[in-house]
Amino acid sequence: MRLITPVRILQENIGTAKSCNHTHKVPVIVFSSGLIGNLFHEISEIIIPLFITSHHFKSSVQFMITDYQPWFVKKYNRILTQLSSYQVIGGGLNTTSAHCFPGAVVGLKYHDNLALDPNSIPGGYTMLDFKQFLRETYSLKIKNANEIKKPVLLLISRKTSRTFLNENEMVQMMEKMGFQVFVTNTKEMLNLDKFSKVVNSCNVMVGAHGAGLTNAVFLPEGAVLVQVVPYALTWASDTYYGQPAPKMGLKYLEYKTVAEESSLMGSYGPHDPVIADPQSLYSRGYQAVRAIYVDGQNMTINLTKFRATLVEALVHLGHRPLTRKS
Ligand SMILES: *[C@@H]1O[C@H](CO)[C@@H](O)[C@H](O)[C@H]1NC(C)=O
Ligand SMILES: *[C@@H]1O[C@H](CO)[C@@H](O)[C@H](O)[C@H]1NC(C)=O
Ligand SMILES: *[C@@H]1O[C@H](CO)[C@@H](O)[C@H](O)[C@H]1NC(C)=O
Ligand SMILES: *[C@@H]1O[C@H](CO)[C@@H](O)[C@H](O)[C@H]1NC(C)=O
Repeated sequence: MRLITPVRILQENIGTAKSCNHTHKVPVIVFSSGLIGNLFHEISEIIIPLFITSHHFKSSVQFMITDYQPWFVKKYNRILTQLSSYQVIGGGLNTTSAHCFPGAVVGLKYHDNLALDPNSIPGGYTMLDFKQFLRETYSLKIKNANEIKKPVLLLISRKTSRTFLNENEMVQMMEKMGFQVFVTNTKEMLNLDKFSKVVNSCNVMVGAHGAGLTNAVFLPEGAVLVQVVPYALTWASDTYYGQPAPKMGLKYLEYKTVAEESSLMGSYGPHDPVIADPQSLYSRGYQAVRAIYVDGQNMTINLTKFRATLVEALVHLGHRPLTRKS
């Protein structure tokens, strides 16, 4: 919350419309875009809450953004213009100019990680409605994974932490099994207009626990999300992606790595608490966990074991592996 400027609500009679420098005909929703650039936080904490808070206004609503970040408005321009017919008010906000509205909602309604609760949203929208909204917003053609005839796999490649050290071998195995494989690059992922279409053309997404998996919101329904769970990150993996995935209409598979696949094993050895007793690090608080398990480990995936998970993905899509072994 350090990054979010508080909004004060003053209860007073503002008098006549004369005190207004700008008079708007529609209500306003005031929210902050003061978050760091991380797709998970942007989608989970701003975009889905914005959908929850604004969709029932049917675009007859004005957005006023505090902690205004031009890149945010640029990146999510399509979503903002789909939810509101009016130009965002942001950058030039100051105290010398008064905007008047017939009503206001201050702050966004948040339900859960990458999720919304249909029972507490006007119109009873579900995550599937949110995905439909995204398909309309980004002109995504594919609603159902079965519209894609071949197994097409998107591998979310990470370069600094939770990296697959044998990524090339993983791709080779996937191709031998019959997948067409796309490997992401970080730059391409920033352009949602284009990247959402790449994701939507795939029926399997594979990636290590991390923000890149948030792109699963663009997968067609019935697609498979395979999350590779790094050592000792079971709780975060399950909470942020494992639980939301089925509500997005996805088949969720988990590939849980063991200590032998983690670079931490090489760095610390089997008897260090990092490997032998992760709970002891958790009891020291999140900073310790983050430094070691989140930011400080890479993985060398055991292909024999991993293959079984990919076979499960293929079978779910109604295919079989082309080769019998890796
Ligand atoms: C304050 O608002 C006025 C009127 O909208 C505008 O002309 C001016 O440039 C703004 N000042 C700043 C510092 O944004
Ligand atoms: C806004 O309106 C007030 C009161 O009418 C006026 O004093 C002020 O100069 C106006 N501000 C701008 C930026 O026009
Ligand atoms: C993980 O791999 C990346 C890319 O090879 C490297 O830059 C980073 O230092 C590695 N981290 C650890 C903890 O080994
Ligand atoms: C990979 O997993 C298989 C099956 O669990 C196991 O038999 C094998 O020893 C593992 N390979 C390595 C290098 O750990």
